[in-house]
Amino acid sequence: MTMKIQLASLLILFGFSLQAQDSDMPNDFLSKGFHKDRRGQLRAGLPPNSVAVFFANPVRNRANDVDYVYHQDPDFYYLTGYKEPDAVLFIFKDKQVAANGSSYNEILFVQPRNALREMWTGRRLGEKGTKDVLGFEQAFNNSEFKRYAVDFSKFDKVLFFDFKNDVRDNPRDSSDLYDLIEQFKVKVNYPEKKSVSLSVEPIKNNLDMKGLNDQMAKLRGIKTKDEIELIRNAVSISCLGQVEVMKAIKPGMSEREIQGIHEFVYKKYQAEDLGYPSIVGAGHNGCILHYIDNYKPSISSKELILMDLGAEFHGYTADITRTIPVNGKFSPEQKLIYELVLKAQEEAMKITKPGTPRSALTDTCRAVVNRGLLQLGIIKSGEKHLYFPHGVSHHIGLDVHDRGGPLLEENNTVTIEPGIYIPDNAACDKKWWGIAVRIEDDYLITKDGYEHLSKIAPRTVKEIEDMMKQPSVFDKFDLPDLKKVNEKSKSGN
Ligand code: GLY
Ligand code: MN
Ligand code: MN
Repeated sequence: MTMKIQLASLLILFGFSLQAQDSDMPNDFLSKGFHKDRRGQLRAGLPPNSVAVFFANPVRNRANDVDYVYHQDPDFYYLTGYKEPDAVLFIFKDKQVAANGSSYNEILFVQPRNALREMWTGRRLGEKGTKDVLGFEQAFNNSEFKRYAVDFSKFDKVLFFDFKNDVRDNPRDSSDLYDLIEQFKVKVNYPEKKSVSLSVEPIKNNLDMKGLNDQMAKLRGIKTKDEIELIRNAVSISCLGQVEVMKAIKPGMSEREIQGIHEFVYKKYQAEDLGYPSIVGAGHNGCILHYIDNYKPSISSKELILMDLGAEFHGYTADITRTIPVNGKFSPEQKLIYELVLKAQEEAMKITKPGTPRSALTDTCRAVVNRGLLQLGIIKSGEKHLYFPHGVSHHIGLDVHDRGGPLLEENNTVTIEPGIYIPDNAACDKKWWGIAVRIEDDYLITKDGYEHLSKIAPRTVKEIEDMMKQPSVFDKFDLPDLKKVNEKSKSGN
C-alpha cells in the first residue's frame, strides 16, 4: 500500500477518530509519575539559572516511501514517556512566568493530531493526550514553537546535546524536527558555522553541549524499582530464547533460523523489539564481534555457535550471550576454551559489588584469559589480549550500552562478558582455529554484591549439554521444501 490513495480515503475520514482502546495496550509501561519524577531529579541537579533542552529522535528513511521503525531517543523517552517524533522538551531550573501570568518549569511541544496521518501511521497523543496521558501541564502543538517567546540569553546555561546535523527536512511539514532545531538555533543564537573546536568548547557563553552527559548518566545509571522489573522481564525473555534454541538446534540449520527461534520467543512474550541487531555466528563467524549478517545457510556439527541477543521489553533491553556446540557436546578443545572464559567471568563476579570500577572487571578477566591461553600454548609469553580484544562490562537499560558511571553502584544493571576468539589461520595450532566463545550475563548490583539476572540461561558445560538433550517443540515444526512449493505454484496446481 502506498500513500497514493490518500485522497480517496479522505471521504471516509469525516467523523473518523482513532481512540486508544484500553484493552489494546499493556498496562505495565512506566507511569507518568515515573517520568515526572525523573524530570524532577534532573531539575534538582541542573546548575543555577539554567534550562535543559531535549529533542526527539528523527524519523529515518529506509528507502523510497518506507521509513525505519521509529525509536524514540532514550533520554527523551526517560523524561517524558513520549514515543512520537517531532517534539522538543524544556526543563527549567526555576519557575518561568507565561504571558498570561501562570508559572511553569517544564514545557513539551509535540506533533499535532491529524486524522489522515493517524489512519496511515497510527495514533498520536497530540496536545491534549500529552496532558492527559503523560501528565504535562504545559503541552503545545509543535507549530506553536516558533512563537514561543523565551529570552534564552537570560539563562546562565542552556544545556542540550549538540545536533547531529543529519536530520531531513520534510518540505510538507513546517514544524518537523528539522524546523524545530532551526527555530531553536535562532532562539539561542547558535552560530551557523561550526569549526572543529566548537564541538569541544562551549560555543557561546551560555550554550553548554556537554553538561547533560554527566547529568543523564547519573540519573539513568541508577535504575528505579519499576525499571528493574522491566529489565528483569527483558532478561528472562532473552534467557528463554537461549533455552529454546539449546533444545531445538541441529546441524544443518541456518544461522538465520536460529536467530528466528530466539526472536519468535521474544515476540511470544510481547517484547516489542530487539535491543540491538541479533548476533548469531557459527564457527569462524563468531570471531566477528558484532556479526549481524547471520547468513551461513548450514551450520556444521563440529562448530560452536555464538549467540548474542537481547529482547527489548517496554523500552528496556537485555544483553546475553551463550555459546554452544551445534551437535550438543563440546569437543575437548572447545571445552578448554569455554571453561577458561567461564573462569574469567566467575572471577570477575567475585569482585562485582558497589565501589568496584567496571574497568577492574575487564582487568580481572584479561588476567585469567592471558594466563590460561599461555598455559594452553595458544599465546607466547608477553603476548596479551590477542584473542580478547574488548572490555567486559557496560550498563544496560533503555540503551544496550546504557548511560551510567564508571564505578559500580547499587541498582546499576550491567553486563560481564569475557570472550576468546581464535580465527581460522591464527598463529597457533590449527586445532584451536574457529573457536569463538563469549559468555555474557546481566547483573543487578545490590547493596553488597549482585543479583545474577540471567542465571536461568544454562551457562556451565554440563548445564548446556544437559539442556541440549531436551526435546524441543520445534522438532515437529516441519515446513515444505520451497523449491517444490514454487514448482507447484508455477504449474498452477
Ligand atoms: N551485544 C553487544 C554487546 O555485547 O555489547
Ligand atoms: Mn554487552
Ligand atoms: Mn552482547
